[in-house]
Amino acid sequence: MDTNDKVIYLDNAATSWPKPPVVSQAMSEFLAKDAANPGRAGHRMAVAAEKMLDQARGQLTEFIGGTDSHRLIFTMNCTDALNIAFKGFLRAGDHVITTTLEHNSVSRPLQAMADGGFISLTRVEFSPRTGVIDPADVQRAIGPKTRLIALSHAGNVLGTVQPATEVGRIAQEHGVKFLLDMAQTMGVIPIDVVRQHVDMLAFPGHKSLLGPTGTGGLYVHTSVSVADLAAFREGGTGGDSSSPLQPRIFPYFLEGGTPNTVGVAGLAAAARYVQGFGPEKILAHERQLVQRFVDAAGDIDGVIIYGPTGANAAANRVGTISFNVDGHSPHEIGGILDEAFSMAVRPGLHCSPYAHKQIGSFPEGTVRLSPGHFNTSDDIDALVAALREITA
Ligand SMILES: Cc1ncc(COP(=O)(O)O)c(C=O)c1O
Repeated sequence: MDTNDKVIYLDNAATSWPKPPVVSQAMSEFLAKDAANPGRAGHRMAVAAEKMLDQARGQLTEFIGGTDSHRLIFTMNCTDALNIAFKGFLRAGDHVITTTLEHNSVSRPLQAMADGGFISLTRVEFSPRTGVIDPADVQRAIGPKTRLIALSHAGNVLGTVQPATEVGRIAQEHGVKFLLDMAQTMGVIPIDVVRQHVDMLAFPGHKSLLGPTGTGGLYVHTSVSVADLAAFREGGTGGDSSSPLQPRIFPYFLEGGTPNTVGVAGLAAAARYVQGFGPEKILAHERQLVQRFVDAAGDIDGVIIYGPTGANAAANRVGTISFNVDGHSPHEIGGILDEAFSMAVRPGLHCSPYAHKQIGSFPEGTVRLSPGHFNTSDDIDALVAALREITA
């Protein structure tokens, strides 16, 4: 098979690559054997496909400390999960608190609802030095109409991990629901939805969980009832066909249409791989690579690193960091790294314009480096050497 082993891939925050071989194996095995439409018929292939989905639901629910696997909804990606949550849960007149760290998949649906006069919105700022929000600011923003707090567990520009436990506690104390966007943390930072008071959790399957693109999920904890939600995608469910409306039972309530069974087969294999390897070991490796970059690139003339720097730059990060090279646009640096050095990094705004406004890199953005599970110290050393050459 033709592979891309000449490229140094450092764009795992967008989607992880490569995937563990068990992922494509599980997908081709499922395709070859059981890839019927789950639940749509009583035949053995449909039953096998349904069983595979159920097992994957159970496995991922356990991964996040959930209590009811029927409440884990498979989605196309994290954006899809966030839209299902926002559009299903929010009501006219609600006040929502979010932050300036958020990805457009949080910012845009909320801004559109605010512009339409449907909700009011407060964006809590983070500290550009630490890259972290202050939970006290979230508490201060709560008012009589606040119904939801939406927070990314780690921002995708600076990679800094947010105080989800404290925010969950504040939300619970004030009777406000808490939606956690685990786009950058699912698979590397453990979560317990019960202990950490997470009411809805959105995650992609294709980033740190190492699954295929086209996968993700939304877990709706028992603290949010069916009555609190509106169906987002109404259609076939494979059962209860006589009902004129979407059946109000999890997971079918939020899962209209044929699911991405092939993708979920790959996602389940990926999650087993991650669990077996150890999320904490994967995180430690990614942090070590980020720290190696900071230690080596920090003293190159003209290289500006955003967020925490110094000896503990990676201590509160996932494997993501942003930098710029003085006098060059991020797109220029990204282009040179790609064309002259075969390195895949991500230049620009990374779908998070508010974060760049706060760190002073708007509108050009930054160069984002996001090493993953399969990167090595040599990859980082090669990047640093390339930056030395570019800046010389
Ligand atoms: C913090 C954050 N939230 C949401 C998303 C959207 O995820 P997806 O690409 O799976 O839709 C991303 C993607 O990079 C992200 O970084």
